[in-house]
Order: sequence, then structure tokens, then C-alpha cells
Amino acid sequence: MAGKKRLAILISGRGSNMVAIARALKRGKIPNAEIAVVLSNKPDAAGLKKAQQMGLETLCISHKDFHTREDFDRRIVEELRKRRVDLVCLAGFMRILSPYFINQYRNQIMNIHPALLPSFPGMQAQKDALEHGVKYSGCTVHFVSEDVDAGPIIIQKVVPVRDDDDADTLAARILRQEHKIYAEAIRLFTEDRLEVRGRRVFWKKKP
Ligand code: GRF
Repeated sequence: MAGKKRLAILISGRGSNMVAIARALKRGKIPNAEIAVVLSNKPDAAGLKKAQQMGLETLCISHKDFHTREDFDRRIVEELRKRRVDLVCLAGFMRILSPYFINQYRNQIMNIHPALLPSFPGMQAQKDALEHGVKYSGCTVHFVSEDVDAGPIIIQKVVPVRDDDDADTLAARILRQEHKIYAEAIRLFTEDRLEVRGRRVFWKKKP
């Protein structure tokens, strides 16, 4: 049997998706995977401490130490290669990746977004959805392409908007589903069950 797929989880903040993925692994829900590293571009990211407490290897590389986006990305890719990473999971990583990075890991980089893409891309997805007046929003796990929040969609989950919601209550309801679908997308990847054809991602049946 082939070895476990090695994950890198890239964060910039509180890291709740990272924790959900690590817990899913610990509970045996993603048996073909192991976490190689949790990497942050911010030294004060709360998620770094959480990862350490869970016994995961952590690494902080500040983007501020590099002149260009690509220089920063080259350094990250170097660290990922050292650790033989198979899948890069962006989990609240607040940096746009350069074409260099994306080409190094084509269809091996996932991101989670707190809306049903292509609706409400960007930084304030939950607030934008609420202000637009949609009755349903949700979350999306997608492969990362050169266009931000626009790569092939792997999995989505619909979440209702309630009349008394504000951006925070809606974000909290969406976040609970983010934690489920990210682990699910990773499991499918680690079972070699994701097939990308153009913009579409097909889930292959279990052999
Ligand atoms: C999540 O809402 C995710 O969808 C978005 O950034 C937030 C990260 O939260 N990309 P956390 O750091 O995983 O708690």
C-alpha cells in the first residue's frame, strides 16, 4: 500500500479549520493522511499555539522578510518539498499565492471559502452575503488556481440565513460546516478519488 499523503496546513489566524482537520485525522477519519507541518506567515497567529499543543510541527515564515511575493513563496515551497508534502491546505491563509507556487502544486492546493462560490468571493464573504439578502449561503472547498477564490470546486455545503442573523452568527453557522467539508475534501484527495476535468471536479467511486 502507498504511504500516507503528507499535508501542510497554511494559516494566518485562529486556525479553527486546522484544528478540525487535525482532529479528524486523530479520530481516524482520514486514515491515509498525516500532517507534515502547520505553517503560518504571522508569528502571532493563535493557530500556531493550538497546533503546538496538538503536537504538530509548526513553522513561521513571515512574508515581511521577503522583497517579492514569489521570493516568499519560493521559501515556502522549499520547506514543503523538504517535508515531501503532497497536499497544501490553505485554512485562513491571508496571502495570495504566486503563479510559481500554484504551478509547483497544481491541483494539490485546496482552500476553504465561507460562501457558495462563485458568489461572494473576497474577505468579507459572510457580511456580503447577508447584505445582499440571500436566503442561503454556505461554504466551498476548491482547488487553488491563479484567480483568487475561483478554482475548480470540490465540495460545497448550503447553510440557511436566518432573519435575526448578523455577520457573526451567520459566520459561526457556516464555520461549523467548513470544519466538516474540509476534512471530507481532504479524505477524498487522500483516497485518490478527485478527478479534475477543466473546471469540474468529479468524485470517483471507491475501488
Ligand atoms: C474561515 O472562515 C475560512 O473559510 C476563511 O478564513 C476563515 C479561517 O478561519 N478562508 P480559521 O482560521 O480556520 O478559524
